[in-house]
Amino acid sequence: MLKNYSTKPHALLNQRISLVEEKIDNSKTWQSLKNIVELYSDDDPSGLAQNEDFWREVSKSYSLYENFINLNHGSINPMPIPVADALMAYTHLSNELPGYWFFEGFQGQKEKIRQRLATLVGVSVEELSLQRNTSTAMETVIMGLPLNRGDEIILSRQDYPTLNYAWRQREKYEGIVLKWIDVPMPSTDNQKLARAYLDVLSNKTKVIQVMHLFNWNGQLMPLREICQHLKDSSIEILGDGAHIPAHLKVSVNEMGIDYWGASLHKWLSAPIGTGILTVKKDKIQKVKPMMASEHPDSEDIRKFETIGIYNSSLEMTVHRALDYLELLGLDNKTSRLQYLKNYALQKLSEIKGVQIHTPLEGEFSGALGLFSIEGISPSEVQEKLFKNYQIYTVGFEYSGLNGVRISPNIYHSTSDLDKLVEAVFTISKNK
Ligand SMILES: Cc1ncc(COP(=O)(O)O)c(C=O)c1O
Repeated sequence: MLKNYSTKPHALLNQRISLVEEKIDNSKTWQSLKNIVELYSDDDPSGLAQNEDFWREVSKSYSLYENFINLNHGSINPMPIPVADALMAYTHLSNELPGYWFFEGFQGQKEKIRQRLATLVGVSVEELSLQRNTSTAMETVIMGLPLNRGDEIILSRQDYPTLNYAWRQREKYEGIVLKWIDVPMPSTDNQKLARAYLDVLSNKTKVIQVMHLFNWNGQLMPLREICQHLKDSSIEILGDGAHIPAHLKVSVNEMGIDYWGASLHKWLSAPIGTGILTVKKDKIQKVKPMMASEHPDSEDIRKFETIGIYNSSLEMTVHRALDYLELLGLDNKTSRLQYLKNYALQKLSEIKGVQIHTPLEGEFSGALGLFSIEGISPSEVQEKLFKNYQIYTVGFEYSGLNGVRISPNIYHSTSDLDKLVEAVFTISKNK
């Protein structure tokens, strides 16, 4: 915070925000979603995952452009209508008295959001910092850890680029040593995945960076096993949880992860520009904030949030994204996402010349799948899908992972995925 105003809350302004909240609560889309969830409340998640009627009703809480099939939710998720409407409502409210709402009116909500998010990911409220995205969260740790020339960091060539840029900067200017590995994926062998990191440990290793779930192909990593192996050592684990919140159940502290970053504009469907950083309580003090704080060596997690004025309506809306998730149920959402991804991958795997680079088992992957077609480049497949079939995917060749990534969302129907399968069949036949 730049300022510590101490204006007393004003009754009129309290009334004003209550009115706005009430309007959000009573919106038609919330109400119809509540009704449909109530109607199916006795169904178990695996049965519900396959119930197209239920998900068709859920899809009405999103505003979708019917001419395109968006199979890229690995980058950003859209907000459901009631969440997007809430963002508009908070933006209009903030606009009425911007200084008041930023410095005071919305501040009380910030601690409640911190608490709800801490509960969602399994850390204490004093271990969670609100950030803009995974990159700022992870880079806060990467740039802020006290390291000396010659200290070794283990990371993989398949890790997310922005994080690797940060490590390379420290390598360039401070002489830390980066030990690069290749993750042997796709894999359903947790020991083999963990060994890729553990086999290169040395007495100079200080940190291991692990993607909790790889964005390229949805591979889920055995972070728990890696942490367990290192629990009696001084080596620290930095986990990239970009894709985890509101996608998979997680308990960061129970797993033993020291530092963990995640984006909320991915599977939580919160506004773009929201994310979190978690730091184990006894490690907060030693991490230097990336943006200067009044007390850089404080043990208060809030020291990572001194960033000047920003759009606090985004933060306020995180509440509403959490409301949406709670209403739908994380187990229901996870099951539906896994079901859709596997539905598509299984059918794609039956096409001659198509290879799948993602494990189908939920224990080893999330809702992202990677496939390739023999004899045709991923970017060409992506372009054909986009141009000729209005299907939006991501094609890439990155550190040995080459293919087209699909990441469906809960509002897709299996017939959307049938259209993808048909398109891939035609592309592979005519190559
Ligand atoms: C695995 C992974 N890590 C980090 C990031 C960076 O996230 P953001 O762009 O929200 O900072 C992404 C973004 O796609 C990602 O997939």
